[in-house]
Amino acid sequence: VDMEVSSQEPSPPELNLEEITRKITFLDRWREIFSYHRLGTNNATPQDHEGYPAAADQAGDGTGTPPPREQGRWPSGSLPSIPRPSVISSASAGSPISRAVATKLQQSLFGNTAHVFSHDWKRAHFQFRSPFSDLAFALEVEKGGPRSIQMAVQAAIVKYLLFPRKGEDRHPHSLCDLSRQQQEQALAAVLTDILWASGAAQKAVVCLVTEDTYVAGATDYSRDDFTERLQLFEFSEKEAAEKFIRDHSQCFRGEGSCGVLLFLFSLILSRTFERLQKDLDATTSHLLQPSAGGFLCRQALLNLILTGRASPHVFNGCEQGKAQEPLHGVLARSEVGYLQWGEGTSTGDRSSQVGSMLKTPACPVWLCNISGKCSVLFCTNRQLLSDWKAERVFHLLFYSGQPLQKRPLHLTVDTHSHPWERDGRGDGREDGLSPGRRFSPLEMVIRTKWREATISWNKTGPLF
Ligand SMILES: *[C@@H]1O[C@H](CO)[C@@H](O)[C@H](O)[C@H]1NC(C)=O
Ligand SMILES: *[C@@H]1O[C@H](CO)[C@@H](O)[C@H](O)[C@H]1NC(C)=O
Repeated sequence: VDMEVSSQEPSPPELNLEEITRKITFLDRWREIFSYHRLGTNNATPQDHEGYPAAADQAGDGTGTPPPREQGRWPSGSLPSIPRPSVISSASAGSPISRAVATKLQQSLFGNTAHVFSHDWKRAHFQFRSPFSDLAFALEVEKGGPRSIQMAVQAAIVKYLLFPRKGEDRHPHSLCDLSRQQQEQALAAVLTDILWASGAAQKAVVCLVTEDTYVAGATDYSRDDFTERLQLFEFSEKEAAEKFIRDHSQCFRGEGSCGVLLFLFSLILSRTFERLQKDLDATTSHLLQPSAGGFLCRQALLNLILTGRASPHVFNGCEQGKAQEPLHGVLARSEVGYLQWGEGTSTGDRSSQVGSMLKTPACPVWLCNISGKCSVLFCTNRQLLSDWKAERVFHLLFYSGQPLQKRPLHLTVDTHSHPWERDGRGDGREDGLSPGRRFSPLEMVIRTKWREATISWNKTGPLF
């Protein structure tokens, strides 16, 4: 924070556009804070500091006197209301990233060290919609690559809120009746769960970003002004990891925190490079793929979040490729499942068919990949997948991540009625079943699991 407003930090002439945008966003944030405290930008001296929490009393004399302002800058820590903590102090007890680890991270992500993350990745973080709202459980999501990660985490959040594990001392939450604190708690618990599973239930590594740079650029490493500022914190107890993430949740959900990248790096380091290599196969050597100037997640990365293993394929178990090479699919049922619909799904390319393990998870929550775009589908009835009677007619809720979506979409799935029996029932949707009707992609993705199911839309038409 200091660095950015400090007049003592001359701006390097070669500022790139991304950095400028970052600085402008940053200044906007200051402006907001100033106006919040009624410290209009024309009024350089704070007259009215009532808005300051006691911590602003940096002088420590209990008078709450705002600290003296040095020329052109605020002394560090003088404005505790600034969302500063997304950058931690370099003096923290973690270990600074080494050049070897930074290089390997780039290789596991991009397959080489020539790429760096684009702005959309750096901008992405884990921010909930408004507390106590119909979408209080929901994260705001980006476009492109980071969206897949946010949605995979979203699926885990839904699972966490609706279906506490046996022995977990926690009642199921309502999805809308969540305070900001409960949202933060859920995020910390879910990120920990995912990192812990990725660390084979033995350890979790959490990365946070500091002010200092530990790795200089060189031919075998591309600087991105992020990776080289990481500190790594390793935990061999899950509770400790969760407490640490909760204490630093601002680092994952704050604007400008690069929360999704921090989570992604923590995920790979928790998995370890050795295990990651064993998970992958001849078809996939790294986790992201370039697309339209950005980077998209490969299946192995989604599977790592869903199952704790970076299996590149969605079928059950292992299969053999054309050259008899082993292809790695999913080895066990996970808590959250996965459904996919898009080009190629219908044309029967076997290796792209989602296997029963991902289709039938322990809890009725699925990450859906509809033509490469991720969303979440779930049922609030835990019995859905364990009691066949529950599967005759049931309700599903759908969160698309579209900013305009105000509440989960409500679908009724009927696996027993047949189109010809429904004729004339007058629910206004028969037109949808007339010959030649094209099913919407959301209906198709549901039908990859419940074949022939009829799906009715509550009030809204098939928007997705
Ligand atoms: C999502 O689905 C598309 C097909 O629609 C597929 O090409 C892609 O590999 C899937 N996985 C991810 C992670 O996008
Ligand atoms: C429509 O949605 C509301 C809640 O949004 C639900 O209570 C109701 O049962 C749904 N109706 C049908 C027919 O699915």
